[in-house]
Amino acid sequence: MARASTGFLNKDGIRIHPAEDFAGMHASGQLAAQCLDMIGEYVKPGVTTGELDARIQAFIEDAGATSATIGYRGYEHASCISINHVVCHGIPGAKVLKDGDILNIDVTCILDGWFGDTSRMYVAGKLSRRDERLIEVTHESLMLGIAAVKPGNTFGDIGAAIQQYAESHRMSVVRDFCGHGLGQVFHAAPNVLHYGRPGTLAELEPGMFFTIEPMINLGRASTKVLADGWTAVTKDKKNTAQFEHSIGVTEEGCEIFTLSPAGKFYPSWGA
Ligand code: MF3
Ligand code: CO
Ligand code: CO
Repeated sequence: MARASTGFLNKDGIRIHPAEDFAGMHASGQLAAQCLDMIGEYVKPGVTTGELDARIQAFIEDAGATSATIGYRGYEHASCISINHVVCHGIPGAKVLKDGDILNIDVTCILDGWFGDTSRMYVAGKLSRRDERLIEVTHESLMLGIAAVKPGNTFGDIGAAIQQYAESHRMSVVRDFCGHGLGQVFHAAPNVLHYGRPGTLAELEPGMFFTIEPMINLGRASTKVLADGWTAVTKDKKNTAQFEHSIGVTEEGCEIFTLSPAGKFYPSWGA
């Protein structure tokens, strides 16, 4: 169901949405967040990533929504499930989770034409102290990036906040993937970098909708994509973590569309 885009493109080519568009983004973002709430209890050793993906697809479809990733550039699944040194775009399938695995689950749904895109970290079994620190630093870097979102600040302020925090913990920021504008489309301008310098790049304005989704590595920042054309891994095979929220800039700061309605985020497998 195509519908005319709302709002207008600003001088930087970034869509500015009218206030009434926030309701649709809130609804789709909340559905995606509920989906991540739902899947937590099924993440445990012995489960396959394909089983998790099937539950995610059923949840989205039962809610009367559709998966944005099924059919996207040939991708065939309702989620990306990225384990240990997989940075992003891990393909669900026969892979069996084992004790101590950490994994990112990323879902994007379309509800009434609006896209909700979010991801969180989960653990199968026992979490090592090293990976716990990685996950904590990654979540905090996302929230510090979000804290920099208000009119008058710039996209460089967001990246700088994330990079400064991650690097101060001797971790590295992935450069090869970034956040993105979204709304009635999956990926739009701008590219939202998770590193950068304060005061640089486009200025934030009320009505912008985009994701922030930092990937933070225990080792070096370099990544490569495997022969399947999707799975991105760290070149040094050290572990990596990611969290993603979809947000909208308001007059005062921003609305996080994908906050967990159950208050689950980290650790998303607990409480
Ligand atoms: N949800 C991812 C993002 O954050 C995109 C996944 S595209 C897929 O932008 F095809 F790999 F699913
Ligand atoms: Co995204
Ligand atoms: Co995503």
